[in-house]
Amino acid sequence: KKRIGVLTSGGDAQGMNAAVRAVVRMALARNCQAYLIHEGYQGLVDGGDKIKNASWNDVKGFLTLGGTLIGTARCAEFREPKGRRIAAKHLVKNGIDALVVIGGDGSLTGADTLRKEWPDHIKQLLADGDITQGEASKYQTLMIVGIVGSIDNDLASTDMTIGSSSALARICESVDAIQSTATSHKRAFVVEVMGRHCGWLALNAAICTGADYVFIPESPPEEEDWETTMCDSLKRSRSAGKRTSLIIVAEGAIDAKTNPIRTEYIKEILATRLGYDTRVTILGHVQRGGAPTSMDRYLGTLQGAEAVEAILRATPDTPSPVIGMLEHKITTQPLKEAIELTKEVAKAIEDHNFSRAAQLRPKS
Ligand code: F6P
Repeated sequence: KKRIGVLTSGGDAQGMNAAVRAVVRMALARNCQAYLIHEGYQGLVDGGDKIKNASWNDVKGFLTLGGTLIGTARCAEFREPKGRRIAAKHLVKNGIDALVVIGGDGSLTGADTLRKEWPDHIKQLLADGDITQGEASKYQTLMIVGIVGSIDNDLASTDMTIGSSSALARICESVDAIQSTATSHKRAFVVEVMGRHCGWLALNAAICTGADYVFIPESPPEEEDWETTMCDSLKRSRSAGKRTSLIIVAEGAIDAKTNPIRTEYIKEILATRLGYDTRVTILGHVQRGGAPTSMDRYLGTLQGAEAVEAILRATPDTPSPVIGMLEHKITTQPLKEAIELTKEVAKAIEDHNFSRAAQLRPKS
């Protein structure tokens, strides 16, 4: 009988609860034991009552709620080998032989590190007398399955991460609300959206709200004097009859020299060069809150169920997988490759090799 633990880590994302529910219920339906690990990796490091055997009813009502009901954390101790060794001990002591980690880029990198180090941790725990010889032989490998939960949609191995659909919907609702007041006053609005170093939210928000201009990290303005290009474009829209100007800025947006593009700077340009009455709105954590869209409930449920299936299919040689979705099909790929690919994309962006980044991550 497999004993499957599930945790959520890093920034919460709408739809994480749906994934947790699906992992627990699919595990029980497939005659496994399920464990809820509370407060992300911190729960693994702390052990005790943070790791709880889960029943069908423990995840009742999870499907439709935002955030993560089992808590999350950005855990500093887990970033150190010592913290990961303690986590390994708690997994062994609870008899957990498979772990589903629902989180973003950083959390899945942490999962991949634990997977790599696992045999060393087991050896050391045995040498220190923290686990028995029997436990060391039984837990020679740990199966880790990643599910990508992040509003940023920045994992290279999947078309959509859990939470990105809801965050995009929230941005659109908010920008629609902004547009009605902007139109009344003939104002310009500069709206900053989240996404870290990924412009998926900003780009898609710009398309869905009919923005006049967008700044994303993957495609910085090429020209030195991008301010003039932007102003000319906004002027053209106004002379064609538009009462407002809407500029969406990804929080990670940069210019050709990799300097951050700041909302306040854009506001100043619009005010001084065009005389527009301009306001800045930083949407912030409202983007991560609220109920998940149907898409995120669907993704969370299918991927949670697939995570359990992947565990049951695995042999001791199967590399730890990450569950994704490509062209509307739920996929299972090696976690290690997904992390490496994501890092390659980040490096390509850092090196200003945007065509390479687009090739590696065609979705943005
Ligand atoms: O990774 C998700 C995310 O919401 C990013 O878009 C944002 O930059 C960051 O987390 C905010 O983190 P925190 O909630 O720790 O302020």
